[in-house]
Amino acid sequence: MAFPATRMRRLRRTGVLRGLTRETELTPAHLIQPLFVTAGSGVAEDVASMPGMQRLSIAELVAEAGRVRGAGVDSVLLFGIPAAKDEMGSGAFDDEGIVQMAIRALKEADPELTVIADTCMCEYTSHGHCGWLREDGEVDNDLSLELIAKTALSQAAAGADAVAPSDMMDGRIAAIRGQLDGDGFADTPIISYSAKYASAFYGPFRDAADSTPSRGDRRGYQMDPANVVEAIRESRIDLDEGADMLMVKPALPYLDVVHRVKQATGAPLAAYHVSGEYSMLKAAAEAGWLDERAAVLEALTSIRRAGADAIITYYAKDAAEWLS
Ligand code: PBG
Repeated sequence: MAFPATRMRRLRRTGVLRGLTRETELTPAHLIQPLFVTAGSGVAEDVASMPGMQRLSIAELVAEAGRVRGAGVDSVLLFGIPAAKDEMGSGAFDDEGIVQMAIRALKEADPELTVIADTCMCEYTSHGHCGWLREDGEVDNDLSLELIAKTALSQAAAGADAVAPSDMMDGRIAAIRGQLDGDGFADTPIISYSAKYASAFYGPFRDAADSTPSRGDRRGYQMDPANVVEAIRESRIDLDEGADMLMVKPALPYLDVVHRVKQATGAPLAAYHVSGEYSMLKAAAEAGWLDERAAVLEALTSIRRAGADAIITYYAKDAAEWLS
């Protein structure tokens, strides 16, 4: 039916009509707040390249998680910055490590908070790579699997509600699943960073987590930004190995990947609106070039529209406040 019988504007005329016909919902229930926990006490250190984000020691982290929950966001994704690093990244799987202690403190303060642990070695290794670095500069896949599976187990044992491996080694989901199942954690879900790209948008995070590789880069294990069919293959492999939820990361420059992974697999899917995406919006907002609230809610709605069920975003707390 053509104009004038069809007038698309009729249903745009009032907020109520727009609400009745809106296709995509964005609510605080869709959001996950990343938080950085650091060793020490009384620490609340600003991350220079991520205005509004801080590295927090455990008591301050617990207080911030309370504010996140108060805003209506019930899940956090936890990253640890240990006091010391070594070749093997042993702080990652130390039962008294920073993330393990933080998980216990968060769950003790608020058992209803869903705590997701990022499972990776890069914040804990002296070289900053996501696994075992060989003499020749390559990250050894199969040796890394053991360390990563041990890390996931110690996080689950500390009380993590889910583990989220972000290392991109082959076989890690099967290794983690086997380790968890063997040690009594068959019910702990794995949220796999299944399509994680070697992206320039992680720069601010690496400042925050102090995890820039001291030599080389991550292109030997993270995906080439030019590829999308490969993302579907990665996703299927992770599902076959036992992933409960998939992830695409970053989000906005990869909305086609979000869409295609969702279409191809139908599996629960998260998208990670990463540090660089956050910092771009912050910088433009601080300069007065963008209306921060409107731009953020539009960006997050777009990620949902593309097919993501959940969104990991540094804006989670603010967005939840704006939405309510
Ligand atoms: C660790 C990890 C990274 C991010 C999440 N987990 C960094 C990286 O791969 O270098 C990036 C998150 C962000 O930029 O917000 N492997």
